[in-house]
Amino acid sequence: MQTITLNDKSFDLYLSESQLQDRVESLATEINEIYREKSPLLIGVLKGSFIFMADIIRHLTVQPEVHFVQISTYGDEMVAKKKPQIDPNFKVDITNRHIIIVEDIVDTGYTATFLIDYLKHMSPASVRLMTLLHKPASQVDGAVPDFIGFSIPPEFVVGYGLDYAQKGRELRGIYRLKS
Ligand code: IMP
Ligand code: MG
Repeated sequence: MQTITLNDKSFDLYLSESQLQDRVESLATEINEIYREKSPLLIGVLKGSFIFMADIIRHLTVQPEVHFVQISTYGDEMVAKKKPQIDPNFKVDITNRHIIIVEDIVDTGYTATFLIDYLKHMSPASVRLMTLLHKPASQVDGAVPDFIGFSIPPEFVVGYGLDYAQKGRELRGIYRLKS
């Protein structure tokens, strides 16, 4: 079992690099089928989604457009504040476009639900939610994501873009907080 330490906490390997890469490739295959001829607009939620986004778009054949948006819900803690705030500089015209929100993880669901509602007011053709990780047992708000990489237990994870107090984003696998 591979263990790493970030600040004061230890984490065990939970999803390996090859498990992640295989799943990302099959998600991309799904997107390529569903959005054939549609050139979807992918909107990644910063910062956690940047590696997932970079990996998935390189398997896409649907000529995606890529944007990012910053939404603040978390500080450097492991507990969510309940009111998400969108970066006021986000000014992308999504009228009549097919939108895929790209999330690292859906935990309580507050962030994703907020963003879906926000975007739906801007007259897109469609809005779907893709997340690398989903914690179904933690979700208190919103619908089940349309595309899910892995459903995981309600435990804290880092790596592959996800952080613990801004550390661990560079890890090639996903690691789970040791109990
Ligand atoms: P939600 O609004 O509770 O669904 O959570 C949204 C954000 O919280 C995610 O996009 C992550 O940035 C962060 N988050 C939730 N769970 C974890 C975790 O286990 N590790 C790292 N970040 C997390
Ligand atoms: Mg996030």
